[in-house]
Amino acid sequence: MSIEIQHTAKSKIDSVDFEKLGFGTIMSDYMFECDYKDGKWEKPVIKPYAPITMDPAARVLHYGQAVFEGMKAYKDDNGDLFLFRPEENWQRINNSSERLAMPAFPKEYFIDGLKELVKLETEWVKPGFGNALYLRPFVFATQPALSATPSTEYKFMVICSPVKSYFSGELKVAIQDKYSRSAAGGVGYAKAAGNYAAQFYPQKLAQAKGFQQIVFTDAASHTYIEEGGAMNVMFRIGNKIVTPQTSERILPGITRKSLIQLMEDNGFDIEVRDVKVSEIVEAAKKGELKEFFCCGTAAVISPVSGFAYKDEEFTLPKVDDSYALKLKEMLLNIQYNKSEDKYGWRVKI
Ligand SMILES: Cc1ncc(COP(=O)(O)O)c(C=O)c1O
Repeated sequence: MSIEIQHTAKSKIDSVDFEKLGFGTIMSDYMFECDYKDGKWEKPVIKPYAPITMDPAARVLHYGQAVFEGMKAYKDDNGDLFLFRPEENWQRINNSSERLAMPAFPKEYFIDGLKELVKLETEWVKPGFGNALYLRPFVFATQPALSATPSTEYKFMVICSPVKSYFSGELKVAIQDKYSRSAAGGVGYAKAAGNYAAQFYPQKLAQAKGFQQIVFTDAASHTYIEEGGAMNVMFRIGNKIVTPQTSERILPGITRKSLIQLMEDNGFDIEVRDVKVSEIVEAAKKGELKEFFCCGTAAVISPVSGFAYKDEEFTLPKVDDSYALKLKEMLLNIQYNKSEDKYGWRVKI
């Protein structure tokens, strides 16, 4: 596959303070773009990062026909660059697209496009745990037309943003008993843009009460734990890890999947099954809930320090043998090429 590359006259990297990066606020020098028209994806192009123009009638602006992915490029101490399980992201964006009646994006465009793009941005990827170039592939409906039907034209893009680790501060979560993120038959398993817009309001309410994140429960009964707004969740009860199984309502996280594999292969006691809120509350009351953590690409693993459910609040104990930290290190070692990768998850650029 050939990708047209238009070079920038001057990198803006010198104006960036890499010690003071917010999450996703600074964009790198280039972006990848590929348009879909007349039933096919056109020739992709990598060009200098810049605003795009869009018709005000573009369907995405009216009906939210848009999906995205979140992934990272890592640099090891020798300066080599890696992606982590990019085929999983490719598969997931196409699963999301299918659910939103959008066309699949070809695998070689996705993988080769990311590799070419990251190669151009080498200087933007800093070595060291937590430092990475966050990659945001996304697809949206561009056809100017106002009937509520699927677009016939789309734009696939990838933009990049240098990051340090996300959510490094305290994480208190509110377990929801009112608002829902998804329902059976809905789009919960898809990384649809609208899923995120829909959770901003309950998130805002929780933040006003001092909780940084919310954890959603099943829409039908609010009795089972599902996931966070942008992260999957895991609990350690005694020395056993339990995590909800994925379903059509839960986004199948690649971090989650990788951690489950690492746990299974390293002698952890792990159960993937439905998890009742009452079970977690009971365990917390009995002092058996030793850890509660969220996992996802952005923050890898974020230990939860406390949570609320209805009117009760619980504080997690400080543990000396944190499974969350052990697992985080195992995963980071693979991502940053510091340990053997027997799974072939690392993809060298
Ligand atoms: C709703 C939701 N759940 C879970 C995750 C974690 O997925 P991953 O580990 O692939 O980043 C994300 C982030 O992408 C998400 O948006």
